[in-house]
Amino acid sequence: MIKGIVYDMNPEIGNVMTENSIQTAADLINHAQYITILTGAGVSKESGVPTFRDALEGLWAKYDPQELATPQAFKANPKLVWDWYEWRRKLAQDVAPKKGHLALAELQTMKNDVYLITQNVDDLHEQAGSKNVIHLHGNIASHKCFANCQGEPTLIDINMLDYDTDDVPPACPHCRAYVRPNVVWFGEALPNDELTKAFEHSQLCDLVIVVGTSGMVTPASQLPGIAKQSGAKIIEVNPDDSMITPLADLKLSWASGVILPQVIEALHAR
Ligand code: OAD
Repeated sequence: MIKGIVYDMNPEIGNVMTENSIQTAADLINHAQYITILTGAGVSKESGVPTFRDALEGLWAKYDPQELATPQAFKANPKLVWDWYEWRRKLAQDVAPKKGHLALAELQTMKNDVYLITQNVDDLHEQAGSKNVIHLHGNIASHKCFANCQGEPTLIDINMLDYDTDDVPPACPHCRAYVRPNVVWFGEALPNDELTKAFEHSQLCDLVIVVGTSGMVTPASQLPGIAKQSGAKIIEVNPDDSMITPLADLKLSWASGVILPQVIEALHAR
């Protein structure tokens, strides 16, 4: 518990606190003119997509993610990195958006300026109906040439390639360099347009709702602080504390799929 932060409590301890927190969140959202939402792996975990760090359960337990999600790792062991992302891509294909995704998509229909920025590489926000999702770390369902031979990014549709799935990664049809997942790896720059938009929304908004991120990875984790410096309020939804928690004006210590639908319900009741 961090002093000064309004904590939502579990019902066993203080459901009055929970109801107050829901109403406080609804007040903050109701009065906001421009809302930025920042999500992380926690919102997709409810769909069964392991968080980035949990993604090393089972088959991958013996690998350090930073040994899998870097250009150096791909160069050193292209098949291992390809297979790890293919495992995650197929996992992301087989899951559905849950109540947290749906509540955020509904919020975007209830007010004009609500912009969703995600660190997640799945398309669960889109599947839930969110529009114009800003993917800071790319999209696991798309691929590009490792050499970006036709410009950044040289997108490649692997469904159009004729390749042996045992002989992977496939080769770029233009230059024969490896094809790679169109996601941001450690040490790589984030897509410029998406990052510019994310900074703009953070500077212009008067409320940030941070959902399901540990706040450990920059520059995404800087966005709530930028918003706070511009006078915005911060609501954080996370069962645990995170690097963002010290900035929060309201901390909802619940799973996103549990608390966000209740906040939306409170908004409708107004
Ligand atoms: P993390 O795995 O670092 O953090 C997930 C957060 O979600 C944790 O703080 C959990 O407490 C919280 N959480 C778990 N279940 C939740 C739920 N049901 N509702 C709400 N919150 C929940 O994942 P990220 O913060 O998203 O970057 O990681 C950020 C980036 O680090 C990833 O995008 C990835 C990784 O390096 C790249 O791959 C470039």
